[in-house]
Amino acid sequence: MTLSGNSPKILVTGGAGFIGSHTVVSLVNAGFEPVIIDDFSNSERSALDGLRAILGHDVTCYPVNCNDAEIMADIFRKEAPIGVIHFAANKAVGESVAKPLKYYRNNLDPLMLLLELMPQFSVQNFVFSSSCTVYGQPAQLPVTEETPRLPAQSPYGNTKAIGEDIIRDAIAAQIPVKALALRYFNPIGAHPSAEIGELPLGVPANLVPFITQTAAGIRSSLTVYGDDYNTPDGTCIRDYIDVVDLADAHVQALKKLIEAPAGASYDVINIGTGRGETVLNVIRTFEAATGVKVNYVIGPRRAGDVEQVYADVTKANRVLEWSARRSLAESLRDAWNWQKKLI
Ligand SMILES: NC(=O)c1ccc[n+]([C@@H]2O[C@H](COP(=O)([O-])OP(=O)(O)OC[C@H]3O[C@@H](n4cnc5c(N)ncnc54)[C@H](O)[C@@H]3O)[C@@H](O)[C@H]2O)c1
Repeated sequence: MTLSGNSPKILVTGGAGFIGSHTVVSLVNAGFEPVIIDDFSNSERSALDGLRAILGHDVTCYPVNCNDAEIMADIFRKEAPIGVIHFAANKAVGESVAKPLKYYRNNLDPLMLLLELMPQFSVQNFVFSSSCTVYGQPAQLPVTEETPRLPAQSPYGNTKAIGEDIIRDAIAAQIPVKALALRYFNPIGAHPSAEIGELPLGVPANLVPFITQTAAGIRSSLTVYGDDYNTPDGTCIRDYIDVVDLADAHVQALKKLIEAPAGASYDVINIGTGRGETVLNVIRTFEAATGVKVNYVIGPRRAGDVEQVYADVTKANRVLEWSARRSLAESLRDAWNWQKKLI
């Protein structure tokens, strides 16, 4: 569907960030008009150039903090959106331990403001970025949505669990909002055009940006944290979900919310591939997909890492009629093409 003057508008907080920018593309492809709200505290304005290059037109962007009640009310009034996708948050686990109040404030205050503003402006559809971090190290794999949440290992993880609870309680009090919290597993990759991708600030805490930066010579070597776990090659297992597939899951979530009857509703859905990959397999797949060698050393285990976690995606398949399409090799090749553009 192409963009027309009448496309329904969707507010996308954090829309200039990694997952938000890809979702903006998916929204336009699905016939929506995204309206970005991003204070660029963890993104660059060049993301908007990337979006323009992909879409062939500008996307409306308010360069503001989504916790400003007056500005946000003005935006709701002016744009009259039919839905909100709330990505804006701080996400660095280590920083959240050092600055917990920054995380509780920025990850929870804007969420509550949105849940107050949406009924005031008759906006019913809400998608929230949650995380598989709420499961900790689950007793059973793969992880279903019924798997009990475990106490968070960091203030960041706690903001996701509390964020879910805030939405659940607000909906239980019958605010007229239909909400879905998507529990992402490990988002990786970049848009195949290499116009948008992940912009880690400082030393990346995630595996794939570390691999691409090492392959590019920005880092001399990658440390694999532990090879003595109870997994086939001893390294940790994660479920790596391509960011383009993840973006499409948001559009499906939004469509399902729009189709659902008006009223208060809330649900949580895992978004992953359903496959667990070891760290060494990711490195090998990267080398095979790109032809570029990655220097790595085996180091000790890292505090706070869980051994393995991967999703049961039955609910996403059934409720959202969505499943991940892109292979690990494709995601890693796209992440590499994006990294080469950044060098
Ligand atoms: N990337 C992951 O591994 C991962 C995994 C699970 C969940 N999540 C969640 O998904 C969401 C998006 O993650 P991402 O990887 O795209 O992060 P990101 O940092 O790339 O994007 C977040 C964007 O929000 C903006 N932002 C932050 N606070 C803001 C505020 N108060 N007002 C306006 N803009 C603000 C930042 O500038 C940034 O552009 C976050 O809620 C994150 O916690 C991410």
